[in-house]
This record gives sequence, structure tokens and C-alpha cells, in this order.
Amino acid sequence: MARKRVAILISGRGSNMAALIEAAKNPAYPAEIALIVSNRPDAAGLATARSAGIASAVVDHAVHGQDRESFERALQAVLEDHHIELICLAGFMRLLTPWFVERWQGRLLNIHPSVLPDFKGLNTHERALAAGVENHGATVHFVVVDMDAGPIIAQSTVPVLAGDTAETLAARVLEAEHRLYPMALKLVAGGHARMIDGQCHIDIAGLSQK
Ligand code: GRF
Repeated sequence: MARKRVAILISGRGSNMAALIEAAKNPAYPAEIALIVSNRPDAAGLATARSAGIASAVVDHAVHGQDRESFERALQAVLEDHHIELICLAGFMRLLTPWFVERWQGRLLNIHPSVLPDFKGLNTHERALAAGVENHGATVHFVVVDMDAGPIIAQSTVPVLAGDTAETLAARVLEAEHRLYPMALKLVAGGHARMIDGQCHIDIAGLSQK
């Protein structure tokens, strides 16, 4: 099966992007990272992409002012130029409009640093600590119009330890994210996880044969 051409959208550090690039170095991995796009020219992850020899582009949201759809049309044009088939959001800090999300339905993934549906939105580690949960973690899901509400592909939990700060907890979750995202993308790119009627279906039979 041909490897799926994947774009990773970032806004900052890009450590999940780096984990996906690493996984895709294996020729048996069903996705190739064909493009990195940042909405911020100063995203640190752009340098990582360049040094990995991967095409990168900046679609600066600031240039488009308040006009989200104009930003997304520019983004769409870059994705089409590179014949992208799947998108991974990885620390991409822009909300996407229905115009874009519906175009990429079932082909647009996001990683969120909580065990959804708990702690949608920002500052998840602070909120998990304040809530006193015993376990926290990360989720990879298909993106739908409602934020952090799409069908879940895979989740990973980590324990919350006595004395944890938001920083120590974030670091533990991030390690889990770096293992989780490559696995979830593998399921989708390999055709084993699909979004059907607003739900994630996993093809267990197909998986167990490999
Ligand atoms: C990660 O915690 C991810 O779950 C969240 O933003 C952070 C991005 O980190 N969406 P990085 O840029 O991948 O290092």
C-alpha cells in the first residue's frame, strides 16, 4: 500500500512533530511526513523540520487579520500543492472553521493533552491537578467542528504523582504523547482506524493479521 502523504501543522516547539518524523523514518510505516506547516514564522519546530530535510511552509495567520477563512484558503492551497492526504495537528494553536474541518473530515487528527472528554481546552495540566484526579494523559482524535470533541482514536494515561507541578505532569504526559501519536497515525494511515458516521471504527481483524 502506498504511504499516505501527511502534513503536520504546528505553532511552536514541535516535539510531537519530531516523534512523528522519527516514526515515519521506518519504510514500513504507512505514512510519510511530506510537509510541515506553521502559522507562526518563529515556531521552533520549523528548524527541526528543515534539518530533517522535510518541506516546510509558513502560512502566517497574522497576515490574514481576523479573516479565518482567508487564512484557511491559503493553508488549503499549500496542502494541495504538496498533494497532502492526511493532516496531523501537533500543538497547532488556531481554531479551524467548518469550511476547513468539513473538507478534511476523517483525514484530520489532533493530539490533546488530557484524557478526553475530561479537560477540553487549554491549561489541562493545571486543571487536572486542581481537580485532584489520580490519572491524566493524552488523546488523539479526529477533528470535528466542536473543539476537542471528535471521535477518539487512541488514549494514553499516566499517573498523577504526589508533589507534581503542572510542569512535571506535563513532561510525563508529553512522553506518553510521543508514543501515542505515531501509533494513532499508523492506525489511520494504514486504514485500520476510520471515522464513520461520527465514530471511530477500528478494524481489529485487519490489525491482527499483521
Ligand atoms: C502538546 O502537549 C499537545 O498535546 C498540545 O500542545 C502541545 C504541543 O507540544 N496540543 P509540541 O509542540 O508537540 O512539543
